[in-house]
This record gives sequence, structure tokens and C-alpha cells, in this order.
Amino acid sequence: MKTIVMVVILALMVIPSCQKDKTEEVIADEGARIFKQRCSPCHGPQGKGDIGPDLTDSEWRYGGTDQDLFETISNGRPGGMPAWKNELSEEKIRKVIRHIRGLAEKG
Ligand code: HEC
Repeated sequence: MKTIVMVVILALMVIPSCQKDKTEEVIADEGARIFKQRCSPCHGPQGKGDIGPDLTDSEWRYGGTDQDLFETISNGRPGGMPAWKNELSEEKIRKVIRHIRGLAEKG
């Protein structure tokens, strides 16, 4: 009897956290898809840089806070970075930023 109670309690603890992971994965996936389509031609599939700079090192020409990245991506930068605000919603830009953070963590 005790074991069954324990199993039920454990299950209740585990299920909600799985669901949370799922949501985060979906968000990350959409960020990944946008990045692959729109950013990787210039920044490389892993964000390591090509025509555009490496986005996974900790060096930022225009600042590395979420707000700085948001401004760079939505308004573009003079050295050849296009503005995306007409093509990507604020929500999508935020998802791409999350994806870039993930790439940086992987190294
Ligand atoms: C046509 C090529 C091109 C595409 C496409 C492109 N970028 Fe860029 N990006 C650049 C270049 C070139 C720079 C450097 C601009 C400068 O130094 O003024 C840059 C700079 C940046 C920076 C600033 C880096 C820093 O050091 O501050 C970020 C962030 C960035 N890009 C993100 C993105 C994202 C996200 C996308 C996709 C939505 C994207 N870029 C698509 C060419 C591109």
C-alpha cells in the first residue's frame, strides 16, 4: 500500500514538470527553425559566424543583453545586418534570442 502511495505522489510530481519541458521545447524549436531559415545563411548553422559575426562567443559589438539583441534583430545594424521587424513578430524575435542563448551554452 505504501509503495502505491509513493508511486502516485512521484507521478504527480513528475508529470507537470514534463509538460513544462515540452512547452519550452516547442518554443526553442520554433526559434531554431527561424534561425535556420533566416539567420544561418549569414551567421552559420551553429551561429558561429560566416558573413555575419559569431553569436556564440561572449563578445558583442552592440551589447549582449536580451534588449540589445532585440534591437539589433528588429532594427538591423549598419555593417550589413538586416532589420527583421517587418518580417518577424516580437514573439518570434524573442524565440530566436532564446535559440541563440542555447547555441552559446553548447559552446
Ligand atoms: C545578410 C546577412 C545577415 C543575415 C541574414 C542576418 N545577419 Fe545578423 N548580422 C550580419 C552582419 C554583417 C552583422 C554585423 C553588423 C555590424 O557589425 O554592424 C550582424 C550582426 C548581428 C548581431 C549583432 C552581433 C554583435 O556583436 O552585436 C546579431 C545579434 C545578429 N546579427 C543576429 C541575427 C539574427 C537573429 C538573424 C536572423 C533573424 C540575423 N542576424 C540575420 C548579417 C546578417
